[in-house]
Amino acid sequence: MNKSRRDGFGSKFGVFAAVVGSAVGLGNIWRFPYVTGENGGGAFLLIYFISVIIIGIPVVLSEFIIGRRGQGNSYGSFKRLSPKTYWYLVGLMGIFAAFIILAFYSTIAGWTLEYIYLSVKNIFSTTTAGISNPETVFNEFHTSTVMPVVWQLVSILLTAFIIIGGVQKGIEKYSKILMPLLFLILVILAIKAITLPGSIDGLKFLLYPDFSKINSNVVLDALGQAAFSLSIGMGVLITYGSYIKKDNNLLKTALAVSVTDMGIAVLAGIAIFPALFAFGLSPQEGAGLVFIVLPEIFQQMFGGQILSLLFFILLAIAAITSSISLLEVIVAYFSEEFKIKRYIATIIGATISAVLGVFATISFGAWKNVKLFGKTIFDNFDFLATNILLPLGSFFILIFLGWSFDVKQTKDEITNQGKLKSWFFPVFLFIIRFVAPLAIFLVFLKRLAII
Ligand code: TRP
Repeated sequence: MNKSRRDGFGSKFGVFAAVVGSAVGLGNIWRFPYVTGENGGGAFLLIYFISVIIIGIPVVLSEFIIGRRGQGNSYGSFKRLSPKTYWYLVGLMGIFAAFIILAFYSTIAGWTLEYIYLSVKNIFSTTTAGISNPETVFNEFHTSTVMPVVWQLVSILLTAFIIIGGVQKGIEKYSKILMPLLFLILVILAIKAITLPGSIDGLKFLLYPDFSKINSNVVLDALGQAAFSLSIGMGVLITYGSYIKKDNNLLKTALAVSVTDMGIAVLAGIAIFPALFAFGLSPQEGAGLVFIVLPEIFQQMFGGQILSLLFFILLAIAAITSSISLLEVIVAYFSEEFKIKRYIATIIGATISAVLGVFATISFGAWKNVKLFGKTIFDNFDFLATNILLPLGSFFILIFLGWSFDVKQTKDEITNQGKLKSWFFPVFLFIIRFVAPLAIFLVFLKRLAII
């Protein structure tokens, strides 16, 4: 009904900015550097690239196809393309995953806002070196109750504010401003990092592949990182795909987005590793890397205050544009399936996410002893979404498109009804039928620690 009246992206750059906005997030700038550090650098990078190519890009494209053909949210698209089957459950699982991811993602998004505030207060610069210890600052802050929750709610409010604006006047408009800004800040930081004396060791660590470091763990971690970073497996790209115009070249968009997402991760690595090595710190610091180690570096660096401010603004932008895509999955579902106004759907979605989110946030402090399966609430959310729901979702999306859906319609979407070249189609079909599902299956087993 009223397909033409459905809100959607207005321009090709708008599509690109919004999808990159979803993909480029904490996964690239907070997670990628420390996972790379833990997995030995260059060799991990190489496997991550390969994973993006053989799994990431095919799933991105598959989700776009399902969304643009289905013209609906992640549940509605499956319902329309495959009525009287149970495939819509994959869409529902995605909406559930969106709540869970948004809950723990907004915790970290909130931390980035606190760190903007701390940078403004000049906590991380040469003048405070020796006075404020970044490790103590981080530990005191993230285990407290009030401020982390307040910042988390601010991050959800910011996200909801943009979402209420709509697809074109909200998501697209802000992505078109914020993503170039993010890129600019990252380039400034990367240039600063490579001009530090001793930076070459960091670049070597990041870019030089030491093949002796490659084992099955590295391979499977790289696959997981690729999936999380590209926002695949839970319907973000189905929902966004439904807003993409018929004349857009989906293959080109999928390629451009995936290459950009990898590029930004590498750039984040270039901004971080040289500084790390120049100051003699270890790349194997885990999740605290950007909240503890980077502030330590800023305290020793000329211009530390402005650099830390830029860095945490960058991180906050990345977090918010990704949160938008998660909330959009929920809002599109509520507003389309229950026929309620967009702003009401946003209020409902944001409120539920905020309530879940508060539990994730206080599980670092007041509720750190509340455990399920030996894990805190935050870790359970992260594990459930990243290690179970995303691989499962990606897997079923591939199986649906590869084995259940009408091949001719898939080809139509890739070639825009025969207007574009089709040589790629058989390759795509082979990958989504065999290569990618098998690879995901292996990640899945590994993530559940079965192999
Ligand atoms: N891709 C984002 C990042 O790298 C996170 C994200 C946003 C995401 N939407 C998602 C991850 C959907 C998985 C699924 O930070």
